[in-house]
This record gives sequence, structure tokens and C-alpha cells, in this order.
Amino acid sequence: MNTISYSKFLSEAVKKAREHNIPIAGSFELTPLCNLDCKMCYVHLTDPSVRERMLAGDEWINFMEQAIEHGMMHAILTGGECLTHPDFKKIYMHLIEKGIFVRIKTNGVLLDKDMIEMFTEYPPYIVDVSLYGCDSESYIAVTGHDVFDTVTANICAAIEAGLHVHLMITPSAYMLPWVDRVMEYAKTFDVEDVLVNAILTEANQGTNRRMEDFGLTLEENAKIHLKQWELFSRKPRSQVDEEAEFMGETPENESHILPKGLYCNGGRDSFAINWDGTMGPCPGFPRDVICADVKKIGFDAAWREVNRGVKDYVVPEECHTCSHNTKCHYCPTQHKSVASKHLCNKESCDWRKLQADIAEEYRAKQRPIN
Ligand SMILES: C[S@@+](CC[C@H](N)C(=O)[O-])C[C@H]1O[C@@H](n2cnc3c(N)ncnc32)[C@H](O)[C@@H]1O
Ligand code: SF4
Ligand code: SF4
Repeated sequence: MNTISYSKFLSEAVKKAREHNIPIAGSFELTPLCNLDCKMCYVHLTDPSVRERMLAGDEWINFMEQAIEHGMMHAILTGGECLTHPDFKKIYMHLIEKGIFVRIKTNGVLLDKDMIEMFTEYPPYIVDVSLYGCDSESYIAVTGHDVFDTVTANICAAIEAGLHVHLMITPSAYMLPWVDRVMEYAKTFDVEDVLVNAILTEANQGTNRRMEDFGLTLEENAKIHLKQWELFSRKPRSQVDEEAEFMGETPENESHILPKGLYCNGGRDSFAINWDGTMGPCPGFPRDVICADVKKIGFDAAWREVNRGVKDYVVPEECHTCSHNTKCHYCPTQHKSVASKHLCNKESCDWRKLQADIAEEYRAKQRPIN
């Protein structure tokens, strides 16, 4: 099945799964460790004690088996850098043998000949490679490592081998001097898709990273996204429009702020298991809002706790009266430091509103005049 028809099939399956609380998609953060050190990364930990607490391949496979029994059909392997997990190949092959659609998220450094050979024989559904620069200087500024040549050679080899490669770009203050060039450079690759991250999330505890250091201003964000829309076929869209392809259209002017519960599919039909075996609705979801320990209570109880948690979460008061609540839905991951108090982060709201307004303005310009 090609990626387009699979996406269509998936969006139908997602609707049904949500109705019946079936976790059809899971994200597995195999490790918080990484061979790069991106200055905006919300996951990467460097504390040596992490190694002792990380899960071995068999523990991951056990969780995955339980998830498959509950209906999981689609798995994302991420991190940190998932390709650095000592049992990566064993975990990957287990999923493949079970017939699971697997998507890999990688920085591309270890996407070498050997890995490409395995992926060619047993293909992942998609390989998302993050592109952190357009030359050595920008790579060092963002990731702390001069791996530009290695990553770009690996991307070319993966495309050449016929893998479904998507490129991911995460603009941050550290990439700012090169962002336009990184996007232009991404366009030169013959890949199926280039995705520019629309929003930065606050870093997890223990990463020693702060949004004040890596975040972008509204103006910088708007400029980057206008350039993105000029370069790539994806056109300006609000958050809600962007997600519609996965969640289905909702009637125009209907609020995405529910009286109780989160609107998004995280925790309704999908889950994320963090590197230490705790489950949340999606990667990076604030642990002080919803977090269940799969290691202690097993997949079934953890899934029920997460599913209940998203349905019971009370969204902030201000969302109910917000002028943009038909184009935005409250996402605790984007309001991480205040989500447990049921509050909004002003910067995040300002960007979501501006993003929706730009999309509206763009659509108005495109409308034919009668
Ligand atoms: C955490 S990384 C893990 C996979 C792999 N190591 C990589 O870099 O692609 C997954 C994605 O999250 C993005 N990312 C990192 N920090 C982020 C942040 N603070 N906000 C939003 N996305 C971020 C990365 O650029 C990458 O595309
Ligand atoms: S974004 Fe990816 S490559 Fe960069 S430090 Fe984080 S996990 Fe590593
Ligand atoms: S912009 Fe902020 S206040 Fe408005 S709906 Fe979105 S999260 Fe709620």
C-alpha cells in the first residue's frame, strides 16, 4: 500500500478506534539518550544513571505485545535517538514480524548502509529524518556535532534504496540564521514530504533546556511559516485544519473545546510510552497531568488510566470564550508548565491565533471573486 492510501485507511481506522477507545497507534521512546545534542531538544538526557533505568529490548517487546493484543497496528519508534538503542534491530524486527506498520524517527546519523539494507528488506512505513542544518556550521550550532556530510549522504542513500523518507525541520533560535536555507536545501531532496514543525514544545524536566533560550518570537515564527508555505505544497492552515487529515473534519464553527475532555486523539486511540516505561497520551505530554506506569500496572490498566485522564481533563476557562476556539484546541503539551493548573501559556496561544489568522487571510485571497 502506498503512503497516501495508507493515510486514508488510517484516518478511517482512527475514527472508529476513537469511538471504541482502542489504542491503534503507539509511540515508543526507546531511549532518552542521543548521539547528537540539539539545543532545543525536549527529550535528550545526559545523566549517566539513565542507562541503568532504560528498558531492555525484551521489556519493550513485552509492552509491544500487550499493545498489539489491545489493537495496536501502527508503531512509531523514537527517542532520543532510537537507532542508538542496543536492541533496536531486535525490537524493529519483532514489530515487522507481527505485521505492524512501523515509522522511524531518526536524526539520520546511524542510517548507514547496514541499517538501510535491513530497511530495504523489511521496510518501515516511513523514515522521518530530521534535518538540522544546510552545512557543517549550522549543524554544529544546532546539534553540537559536525555530522552534515554523514546525514546528507545517508538521506541520499536511503532515497536511492527506495525507502519512504520524509524530512523534518524544527526551527528554533539556534537554527534561525539558516532556517530559510535549511528549508530550501530540504526541497532539493527527492523525498515524499518535508514537514516544518509548527510549534516548539517546552523541554522535559532534567534536560536543562529552557524555552526562553531556544524559542522563537511570533514574528520569527510567522516569517518562517510564510516561507515554508511559499516553498512547499502545504498551504497555510490552522492547527485544527492541520489535524483534520488525521482526525476527520468537524463542522465549521463548531468549538474544539469540549465541556470536559481533550479534543485530540492522544489517549483516545493512541498512546506514547516514555523511555522509563511510563505512558502518556502522546510524546512529550506533561507527566504531572497524566502519566501511568506500564512497568508497574501493565499495559491494560495504564491505557485505561490514560484514556480516562484525557476524557476527564478540564480545559482552561479562557478557552471557552476564546475568539479562536473553532481553530485551535487546547493541548497540554503546548502549555506544559501550566497545564496541571488548567491554564494557558500566553506565547503558545498567541502563535496559534496568529497561525489561524494567517491561514484565514491566505484563504480569503484565494477565493474567486464572483
Ligand atoms: C525528539 S526527536 C527524536 C527523534 C530523532 N532523534 C530526531 O531528532 O528526529 C523527534 C522530533 O522532535 C523534534 N523536536 C526536538 N525538540 C523539540 C521541541 N522542543 N519542540 C518541538 N519539536 C522538537 C525533533 O527535531 C525531531 O523532529
Ligand atoms: S532532537 Fe533528536 S537528534 Fe536532537 S538531541 Fe533530541 S533526540 Fe537527539
Ligand atoms: S488559543 Fe489558547 S485560549 Fe484560545 S482556544 Fe487555543 S489554547 Fe485555548
